[in-house]
Amino acid sequence: MPQVDDFYKKLEKASASYKSARIIESGEGAYLTIDGNEVLNLCSSHYLGLAVNPRLVKAAADASQKYGIGTGYRTLAGNHKLHLELEDSLATFKNAEASIVLTGGYMANCAAIQTIVGKEDIVISDELNHASIIDAIRLSQVKNKLIYEHKNLSSLEEKLKEADNLRKTPNSDGEKPLILVVTDGVFSMDGDLAPLPQIVQLAKKYDVLTMVDDAHGEGVLGEGGRGVVDHFKLHGQIDIEVGTLSKAFSVIGGFITGKKLLIDYYKQKARQYLFSNALTISDTAALIEAVRILSESDELVKKLWENAKYLKVEFKNAGFDTGHSETPITPVMIGDEDKAREFSRMLFEEGVFATPIVFPMVAKGKARVRVIPSASHSRQDLNKGISAFVKIGKQLKLI
Ligand SMILES: Cc1ncc(COP(=O)(O)O)c(C=O)c1O
Repeated sequence: MPQVDDFYKKLEKASASYKSARIIESGEGAYLTIDGNEVLNLCSSHYLGLAVNPRLVKAAADASQKYGIGTGYRTLAGNHKLHLELEDSLATFKNAEASIVLTGGYMANCAAIQTIVGKEDIVISDELNHASIIDAIRLSQVKNKLIYEHKNLSSLEEKLKEADNLRKTPNSDGEKPLILVVTDGVFSMDGDLAPLPQIVQLAKKYDVLTMVDDAHGEGVLGEGGRGVVDHFKLHGQIDIEVGTLSKAFSVIGGFITGKKLLIDYYKQKARQYLFSNALTISDTAALIEAVRILSESDELVKKLWENAKYLKVEFKNAGFDTGHSETPITPVMIGDEDKAREFSRMLFEEGVFATPIVFPMVAKGKARVRVIPSASHSRQDLNKGISAFVKIGKQLKLI
């Protein structure tokens, strides 16, 4: 068979197992409209409810009235002043020297690693790091990629010793290989935290760079949602902090904060910055407003935690296994993939939207329904969700 036909045949075969996502017909608040019906939204990462916040909507509308929508390649077509304002406000919010904004957390991870790590350097990475970190490491083409056991400090130290040994052989340019330790701050499928203080200590002992992906910590952890580094009071001790602007900030984009010297380097060299367009006017203006809201008050962050604590206690009291989460991410452990899918489908019939998480997002046999409450849920909303979980949990003999 001709090769092109063969290729499309393969796609046809693969398409038999495709899953299609539900279609949302409303804004992404505490409730969603799906198939014309209102369902409780218990699985989006809009932690603070900002996706439908009127201040963000107005900021986006006002700015696009004034400046239109599109922007350009920042290096070729000029920096828009709103991009610079957003970067300044993020750096101030995070207590960092400087920041660079890109069009996604995925892009920011790729830029953060690929720009500074070369083939002959060394990366040490937690085995459960997010796919965008894994891809960023691949992009760097680094040969020595050392993976340590999830959150296991002795395993990390073993890899650091191995790296220390490897760096005795200089790179072809005569320089010592760079060593970078990278971890998620909050692990997105389990909600557990990286042991950052101990990682920093080890990094100092072995004189290596550190990077944390704080996608699920921004707007959630630390004082007023300043993130995992603030939570552990490690300001200035992690070299590279990456965040996303699509979860708690509820718009789109990603950013890196760190020393001005490092951020200036990214602005000159990162391929994801040089060869890809910038955020639109409306995204940028909405994000400036989101940072302003968080800088003004910690009310939403407090509400989020109140809701998360309530939900976890009620799930535990009902007899669900919610894993080792230390954050609002609340996995309801099921194990079997088909059962997790069935659980989610039955919840939907009860008017509750919470999606199943299965392989390859988590290991086989560790399927779950991941629940994420937000600041926009009332106690009544949470009670509705909990009652549905308990009803289905009993029907499926999980509790
Ligand atoms: C830990 C982590 N890092 C990075 C990303 C990617 O962020 P974005 O959606 O902004 O590209 C995600 C999103 O799911 C994430 O969970």
